[in-house]
Amino acid sequence: MNRHFVEIVERKQLNSDIYQFTVRAPELAARALPGQFLHINCSDDVSMLRRPISIFDIDATNHRLSFIFQVRGRGTALLAQKKVGAKLDILAPLGTGFEIKPDYQNIYVVGGGIGVFPLYALLKQYPDAHKTTILGFASVGKCIRAGTFADISDQFICCTDDGSSGFHGNTAQALERQLQSGYLPDIIFACGPTVMLRAIAKLAAQFNIPCQVSLEERMACGIGACLVCACKTRTESGWQHSHVCKDGPVFWAQDVIWE
Ligand code: FES
Repeated sequence: MNRHFVEIVERKQLNSDIYQFTVRAPELAARALPGQFLHINCSDDVSMLRRPISIFDIDATNHRLSFIFQVRGRGTALLAQKKVGAKLDILAPLGTGFEIKPDYQNIYVVGGGIGVFPLYALLKQYPDAHKTTILGFASVGKCIRAGTFADISDQFICCTDDGSSGFHGNTAQALERQLQSGYLPDIIFACGPTVMLRAIAKLAAQFNIPCQVSLEERMACGIGACLVCACKTRTESGWQHSHVCKDGPVFWAQDVIWE
């Protein structure tokens, strides 16, 4: 982990409260891995905590890195106001990302809501694999970047809770339908809310498919020092508290104790 001062080179507003920023960060773009996150200082106010934001795209060739975030409070509202040319103070890359094995030839990625974005950098790691992407949103108006995911996938299923686009239902229901067809992947990668991840992990276990999940948890320090982000994981002798920020956010699904 290092502290970087990086320049915003592109700023896009994707809908009323969701933004995509691209920063020029040669060292970070060379080192960051899909599933890791950035801890961003949003204000000069020293009492304000940094905000953890996952990496959407890593472009090592052009020394750029992109992230997408939703305005959820004062910190992200201040971040959203930053303009192209402004410098950002970032601690990164943080956390443990996805374990990427070259022998995965048939992969499923499953994401929900604002949590889908780390899956894009992951999909780019598998140019030759057969990729099925299942994303879930509340409604068609919330389907952010769906076309970008569709373009990089061999099969793309968009789910909406209200049926306003694609599959009417949630991602676990769509995944179950896929798995029941008998076409089983080598691995499932999932990002999103805990309730969704728990359902995906259960299906993966039922169909005996390895599964990695990226947990969403409140964070403060981002470096394993405060325990705000604790979760329970299995050990050989029982269980332990793990830090989502340091030991994760990506875990093997069978290691997570879902509560
Ligand atoms: Fe402080 Fe994880 S956020 S230990």
